[in-house]
Amino acid sequence: MLNIRIGQDEQTPIDRKIFGNFIEHIENCILGGIFDKDHPLSDENGIRTDVLEACRELAPPILRFPGGTVIGIYHWEDHVGPVSERKRMQNLIWGDRLCHEFGTAEFVSYCRAIGAEPMLCVNMPTGSAEEAAHWVEYCNGTGDTYYANLRRSHGYEEPFGVKYWCIGNESHAEPDLGWQHDVNIYVREAWEFCKYMKLTDPEIKLVLVGQKEAWNRAVLDSMYGVCDYLSVHFYASTNDYDRITRFENGTLRETEALLREYNAREIVHSHWYRFPPRSAPIRIALDEWNIWSSGAREFGRYGLQRRYTWRDALFTARFLLMMIRHAETVGIANLAQMVNVIAPIVSDARGTFRQTTFYPLKLFTERCGNTRLAVSTDADAPIDLCATRNADGSDTVLLVNHTEEPITLRFARPVTEMTVLSCADPDAVNGHARNAVTETTLTPNDPTATLPPYSVAAIDLGA
Ligand code: AHR
Repeated sequence: MLNIRIGQDEQTPIDRKIFGNFIEHIENCILGGIFDKDHPLSDENGIRTDVLEACRELAPPILRFPGGTVIGIYHWEDHVGPVSERKRMQNLIWGDRLCHEFGTAEFVSYCRAIGAEPMLCVNMPTGSAEEAAHWVEYCNGTGDTYYANLRRSHGYEEPFGVKYWCIGNESHAEPDLGWQHDVNIYVREAWEFCKYMKLTDPEIKLVLVGQKEAWNRAVLDSMYGVCDYLSVHFYASTNDYDRITRFENGTLRETEALLREYNAREIVHSHWYRFPPRSAPIRIALDEWNIWSSGAREFGRYGLQRRYTWRDALFTARFLLMMIRHAETVGIANLAQMVNVIAPIVSDARGTFRQTTFYPLKLFTERCGNTRLAVSTDADAPIDLCATRNADGSDTVLLVNHTEEPITLRFARPVTEMTVLSCADPDAVNGHARNAVTETTLTPNDPTATLPPYSVAAIDLGA
């Protein structure tokens, strides 16, 4: 029997945006996934309604678009206005073509349909600060000016209100388009993007590209006054928890230490910039994370068509708990990606199914409270957990039993309701008409609860 002790004093706000997701013009994520004009389940705009329903069920609070690496060839003006007049462009990065039918307006509509806040990533490699600022005006402009009027002429009177903007993506990656892998060039150019975009809409929040310490210092030395989020990406090649531990004790803690240093600095910001500096501490945007490798369950040219096992789902749940433990600094996170490409939702001509990873992501998104409470268990407890407080003052504990044994827990208060996800075979994968994941909801009204082997749970406690 494991005793779970929940403190009442420490309450750290948890930003719901850590349950975010990501879609890119990459393989069959958008083209042939979200959008498929020939499928019988698609609506008159080519949106697959079965995929939309699954995304709505997942309900990510924030959705990033249009890339990823593909932003290096993405020019937003090619993808707005009447569809018949849009450019059909090759997808030079991932193959096939860019889905011109799914541009800015369609993305924003999709976000609204699933309840997500839109997050856009601008093209640094072959785009310009001016192009990015025009995109900001197209999305957010309220005045009688060209790009705001262009949006209106496309049938969107109200601004889209896009608040979160990524200035480049993995710019340090030398094989990708662009010369910003030299951090001095990234800094010089990103600063121009910041200025031009913030002048267009001072309310937007900027995500700057992060990497290792030397890169991050160079970025922050010049732009700590305007950097709302520093981007960190995490792809684990296997589902060993060791990957999470190494990331948590390495990149994550190092980045947190660096942000503490820069957040303690006084912001020096000339009023001649004509826009305000950031108004809150810099936080981390873990704006791409997942398990991605080339292995037995992956196929496709880049190993992106992965089938996730229940062990992968446990890893996903444990990564989410790790982010909640770092809620002070992690302000945004986007699972890469939402549909078909290393994704919790899979669609093809036959229909849609939810991968194993879908279920813990959905459960924790729904049940995680607004603040994190201190929690402790007996030493070396073989579970992962976070205790959270809900808006109504009740508490919900999120847990993972990653062992092959059942574990009984004792709380100081009765368990009013518990939802448990489990799977008889940890190596099982889902498919059409085959869901290996069992969801059970119990109302024990007792201070003890048992977690089955290899399970994920959300446990509500009475007052
Ligand atoms: O998510 C797939 C790719 O992984 C993205 O395009 C890129 O940003 C990352 O390397």
